[in-house]
Amino acid sequence: MKQFTSVHDVSDPAALVQEALALKRAPRGSLRHIGQNRTIALLFFNPSLRTRLSTQKAAIELGMSAMEYNAGQGWQLEFEDGAVMNLDKAEHIREAAAVISQYADIIGIRTFPGLQDREQDYSDYILKQFQQHARVPVISLESAIRHPLQSLADWVTIEEHRPAHRPKVVLSWAPHPRALPQAVANSFLEWMKRADVDLVLAHPPGYELAEAFTRGVSVTHNQNEAFEGADFVYAKNWSSYQDYGRITCQDAGWMVTPEKMALTNNGQFMHCLPVRRNVVVADAVLDSPNALVIEQANNRTYAAMAVLKGLLEGWTGTEP
Ligand code: CP
Repeated sequence: MKQFTSVHDVSDPAALVQEALALKRAPRGSLRHIGQNRTIALLFFNPSLRTRLSTQKAAIELGMSAMEYNAGQGWQLEFEDGAVMNLDKAEHIREAAAVISQYADIIGIRTFPGLQDREQDYSDYILKQFQQHARVPVISLESAIRHPLQSLADWVTIEEHRPAHRPKVVLSWAPHPRALPQAVANSFLEWMKRADVDLVLAHPPGYELAEAFTRGVSVTHNQNEAFEGADFVYAKNWSSYQDYGRITCQDAGWMVTPEKMALTNNGQFMHCLPVRRNVVVADAVLDSPNALVIEQANNRTYAAMAVLKGLLEGWTGTEP
């Protein structure tokens, strides 16, 4: 593995899931030699709790040093080639990425979409520009269109709770008062398509995701039908892709409730967090023994460890 920005960077995602599970079982402190004298720079253009702390913890568990930088605060980067930089942008990505590469062996980037210009957001230009100009491997800590570390942790969690049969996994849109990116949903589909599961996507009309992510996925506008017999229900809000970045409907009837979970096969509830209680999901679901959200957050550490280890040691699978 030479970078980690999507499932396409991983030759064998199922093996990476098993690697994360093996790292979770390893005795505490037994892996510190792996990243000794290595450093990761974590650049956050947008806020984070889980990704920030779990990636830092992963680095610590592997013996690495982690440097964090709030890149969204006052650091005006120029991304245009040939720009005449006589306005507010003080530094070009060409120097910035090259300079950070002098200090770090791996660079992690979190950068959300603006949700104004679909073409620009879906070009994932900030992450891509770092990939182009950095001289060390780049990890996505959630980009404009994907959140691969979250998806890997989600798959690890599903694997831990996997029933004997091929599980039915439902990704369901849920209401939210703010317009949110499509990144978690896009990424979850992309990773689950590589897993041994029956995948169903449920959302109200108007919340269709980009075809690149939904191709081959069973899609329904009937949430109850989707929940029937489900082993895992993953709730997530996203704003419209067609009417880009807009909230086109705010149907409170799509909140995940105990009545809806009763349609499932004693289904497990999943969400990437943070979650709006009693908007996205009812308290009774989130506080039930079937809620996996805290385990998902815990598995963020082991997902990040597997990725960092893969980048540091050289992934043994066939490179794509
Ligand atoms: N799930 C997730 O990425 O959480 P943070 O935004 O807190 O990192």
